[in-house]
Amino acid sequence: MTEQPLRILGLSGEYRPSSKSGMMITQALSIAEAAGAEVHFWDCDKNPLPFVGEDGCWEHENVKAFQELASSCDGFLVCSPEYHGTMSGVMKNTFDWLYDKHVGGKAFGLMCTLGGMENSNTLNHMRIMLRWLHAWPVPEQLAVGHVKEAFDDHGELANAATAERLNTLVESVLRTATMLKSES
Ligand SMILES: Cc1cc2nc3c(=O)[nH]c(=O)nc-3n(C[C@H](O)[C@H](O)[C@H](O)COP(=O)(O)O)c2cc1C
Repeated sequence: MTEQPLRILGLSGEYRPSSKSGMMITQALSIAEAAGAEVHFWDCDKNPLPFVGEDGCWEHENVKAFQELASSCDGFLVCSPEYHGTMSGVMKNTFDWLYDKHVGGKAFGLMCTLGGMENSNTLNHMRIMLRWLHAWPVPEQLAVGHVKEAFDDHGELANAATAERLNTLVESVLRTATMLKSES
């Protein structure tokens, strides 16, 4: 039997792939795709998720499609901007639509972008939150500080060390997702 490729879903805590977190996800997904994964990106700009608790939210067609897509994926690459020392509201609301039944036992790679100096607050907050979803964030992680200067004119990461850390992170997610998939 032919083995199915890993399915990897990119989630950004900012609207649009052209945002800095969107650009990080684009880079991360292209590394995963080059390694043989089937990649998907949930674009909150094209397919907004309602706020949890909003009128009619539980039956919203985007929520159903999002949860189905998440359930069908083996691993996740996530990037949130840091807002006031933590993940953005868009990121948290995206996570709030996910439960153990969609992402439990699956690998996550965590990234964040910051206007100022890098730190691990947003990464740590996402890591703690993933405990409640029974998900498996890999130990590697990436915070990109002073993000306005982080990309060159071609949308590639300008700093070679940052690009290398991104490669290592994505490889770890793919390796862990393969392991966890074989266990399930
Ligand atoms: C409401 C708000 C709060 C922010 N808080 C922080 C912060 O606590 N630390 C920081 O380094 N940057 C902060 N920033 C800057 C964002 O992290 C930065 O805009 C983000 O990483 C994405 O870059 P982009 O807006 O160019 O896409 C904040 C931005 C906004 C809009």
